[in-house]
Amino acid sequence: MRWPKVILAAISLFGSVFGQSDTVGYTDSETGIKFQSFTDADTQVSWRVALPEKTEGDYDALIQIEGPANLGWIGWAWAGTMAYNPLTIVWANGKTVVHSSRIAYGFYTPSVYNETTYQVLKGTGVTGDTLKFTALCKGCTTWKDFDGNTQTLDLTQPARLAYALSHEVVESPSNSSSNFNIHDNVGHWNADLVASKSADFSSWVSKNTIPASNESFHFRNRRGA
Ligand code: HEM
Repeated sequence: MRWPKVILAAISLFGSVFGQSDTVGYTDSETGIKFQSFTDADTQVSWRVALPEKTEGDYDALIQIEGPANLGWIGWAWAGTMAYNPLTIVWANGKTVVHSSRIAYGFYTPSVYNETTYQVLKGTGVTGDTLKFTALCKGCTTWKDFDGNTQTLDLTQPARLAYALSHEVVESPSNSSSNFNIHDNVGHWNADLVASKSADFSSWVSKNTIPASNESFHFRNRRGA
């Protein structure tokens, strides 16, 4: 059957307005977590997300970032723009991964942002040439926009998220508040967040929680102490 041109045009408009998903299902073998995953073809960095079944209010998110350890920093912007939303930034410091919570109020160096916390999970570290960061984020799914209005991740259509990364090493790699310079690459991807929901969310968190003693070792190490 041949589709009338007007219907094809409407389908194409629908796709561009509502955005088609750029993510695919991905199971991380180390943690067993099933993410929706987007990979940037140029740099081979992947940004991954998994959500709980209940996504009302300020719900938590499981995230994973995996890519070449020699990148200076890798970032994730939760509202798909640089400013006025939580920015998750990671970089390698020897064999450990430093994470930094930031927010930008314009196109200049983002400040440290205290409205998010990250529980670092198993599946975090530098192995060979690859950095992998896996965490439970509290505060990544809701934020205040420019006008001070609360915004949350949109689950009614693929959510437009953004990434940024740099080849230049941050000023002080052992310090999560370190200064760093502007990105070399910036891009957007549409995440199928509905497909990222799972009833296994809580069990993934508990199975991959790092015992407290190891966590403090990890923390000391991360600070280079
Ligand atoms: C020193 C740090 C940074 C500086 C000086 C900076 C500066 C800028 C500037 C000047 C632009 C507009 C021009 C362009 O497209 O290149 C821009 C765009 C952008 N930046 Fe940054 N940036 C920094 C860090 C970050 C970080 C950490 C992220 C995300 C994690 C980020 C995400 C974006 C995005 C998504 C855009 C595209 C425009 C938008 O959608 O808002 N930037 N940045």
